[in-house]
Formats: sequence, structure tokens, C-alpha cells
Amino acid sequence: MKRARIIGTGSYLPETIRANSDIEKMVDTTSDWIFARTGIEERRIAADDELTSDLATKAAERALEAAGVTPEEIDLIVMGTITGDYPWPATACIVQNNLAAKNAYAYDVSAACSGFVYALSSASDFLQAGRGKKALVIGAEILSRIIDWTDRNTCILFGDGAGAVVLEAQDTERGIISSHMRSDGSYLDLLYQPGFGAKHPASQQGLDERLSFLKMQGNEVFKVAVRSLTEVSQEALAANDCTVEDVSLFIPHQANRRILEATAKRLKLTDEQCFINVHRYGNTSGATIPVAIDEAFRGGQLKEGDLLLLAAFGGGFTWGSTLIRW
Ligand code: UT7
Repeated sequence: MKRARIIGTGSYLPETIRANSDIEKMVDTTSDWIFARTGIEERRIAADDELTSDLATKAAERALEAAGVTPEEIDLIVMGTITGDYPWPATACIVQNNLAAKNAYAYDVSAACSGFVYALSSASDFLQAGRGKKALVIGAEILSRIIDWTDRNTCILFGDGAGAVVLEAQDTERGIISSHMRSDGSYLDLLYQPGFGAKHPASQQGLDERLSFLKMQGNEVFKVAVRSLTEVSQEALAANDCTVEDVSLFIPHQANRRILEATAKRLKLTDEQCFINVHRYGNTSGATIPVAIDEAFRGGQLKEGDLLLLAAFGGGFTWGSTLIRW
């Protein structure tokens, strides 16, 4: 059976650590509140001269090295991001140029925190359809540039980072088994960036109203996230005649430890089945899942034949799951 298989993983996190104690000095909050409500202890912040394309390029170089694949061999680059270097063109094109992946075509996917699973699904479908042999799939964000560092409801949650995988079309039982993508645009204003798109083009008034920053109604997002992550995970298992016991590792989008634990409880997954690194990086949106895959694999938590379940949820709303035979 022709499937897209992950043959290399990589990630890159900026060096600067912003701990909860640092955020205590910026807004009216406490380290204990942040940890108790989110499970987050610290997050990474990109340097002033670092771009999303720089983080993505470093993660991609590590994934290519791990796969033993040269940039020229890549046919397709798909990148999940909502914090690209420019509104357009796609940051994936900048990464393509950085890597000198001159035979690839490249585009971004805008699906917020679901960006990586959407990108993975898209690239996997292209490879299965025979439109290329090797693809680079990236999730990369510099969320610190769209966070309002005076808003305690949001600034405690987010961080910067990038992860990448190399996919290869192979005649194999291993690889991406299925993808289940969902969205519901009626929830737009629970989680979004109001400016500066076509609705609110850049203006002094928009700056004064802080429209260029992420806005979120966290507790409403929380409830829909738990329900959607649970349902879309169950859908992936049912579609493939698998049970929760068959899952070797569950890597959910890392937004908030309480969301992850509530989802795992509903799915009846054990602690050992769940990968969590939100305490170290916070929510890095499209980057959380590829960073987690890379850490899980390099840490020996993913072995040949394992069944890996990914599930993501984010602005849009968008959500999705991917089932992978490692
Ligand atoms: O990636 C997908 C997108 N994002 C998410 O999945 C995030 C989803 N939401 C969350 O993670 C949580 O809703 C938060 C961590 C953002 C907030 O936790 P919560 O338990 O839902 O708190 P809440 O928003 O219901 O607020 C409870 C109280 C409020 O005070 P009152 O009205 O009860 O007096 C807030 O004003 O906590 C207050 N509060 C804070 N207090 C100290 C909100 N933020 C803070 C803060 N420090 N940083």
C-alpha cells in the first residue's frame, strides 16, 4: 500500500527562556496561578532578529539530516503557520530559498494551532496521489510578536518554536494511515487576530485599539477544545477499527495541561500513552505537534510499529486528527 511515511524529524526552540516568574513582573498574575491553570512553567521567546522562517529552516535542516535527504530531493514544502514573516508571500517559499530546495513547490497553511496536522494531511495526500516522492512538513511560529504582553488572559500561554518532518511516499504498511480534518467558522471571534487584514487594514486607530494582537475568550475555547479533540480522536480510531488500547502514543496539541488531561480522561488514555511538553514551551500553535514528535522520537518513546495518534485544535475553529503507524 502506498503511504507517506515520516523518515526524519527535527525541531528548533529559541534560546531565550521566559519563565512564569518573568511574566509576574509584566502583568497582574502569579507563577502559581499560571502553573495551576495551565501546567506551563516556561516558554521560549525568539530573539529580535530571528524570523519565523529562521526557526523553520533550522527545524527543517535537522529533519533533513535525520532523514539523510538533501534539499534538492524535496518535491513539496507545506508549512503550518499564522505568524509568517510577511502577510504574503508564504513563509514556506522563504524556507525553500533558505534551504536551496530548488525543486520543491512551497505554500503555507493557515489553520492556527491545527496548522501542522492540516499541512501533514495535505502533503500526505499529494504523495499518495503520486504528485511527488518526498515532502517537508513544518509547523513554525513566533507568537510572541502577536501577543499583547499587557493582557494577562493570553500572554501567559504562548511561546515560539518550530518542528518539521520529512515525508516519503513508500510502498508500506507504515506511515500516515488516515487524517480527519474539521472546522467551524461560526466560532471566529473566540480566538483570532482582528487586524491588519482586509477587514481592519493597518491604521493608527487599529494600533491604538491593539487590533494586531491575538484575542481569545479562553474558557469558551477550552470547552470546545476538549469536546472536539475527543471526538476527532475517536473518529480516527473508529475509522480504522482501532481501540484506545491500540494507541502507543497520543500527541495532542499542547495548549494547556488541563485540556490535555481532560481529553485523555474522556478517551480513557493512560498517563503513559500521553506525551506532554507544554510545561517547557507553552502553546506554540502550529509548532507544538512536530516539536513533540521530534522529542518523543529522539527520546525513545516512538518505535517501529507503534501506533501514534495526533490531535489538534485551534482558531477558526479548526481541528483534526492523524493516525500514524510508526
Ligand atoms: O490552542 C488552542 C487555543 N487556546 C487554548 O486552548 C486555551 C484555552 N483556554 C485556557 O487555557 C484557559 O481558559 C485559560 C488558561 C486561558 C484561563 O483559565 P480559566 O480556568 O479558563 O480561567 P478564566 O478565564 O475562567 O478566568 C478565571 C479568573 C478570572 O477572574 P474572575 O472573573 O473569576 O474574578 C480571570 O480574570 O482568573 C482570572 N485570570 C487571571 N488571574 C491571574 C485570568 N488570567 C489570569 C492570570 N492571572 N494570568
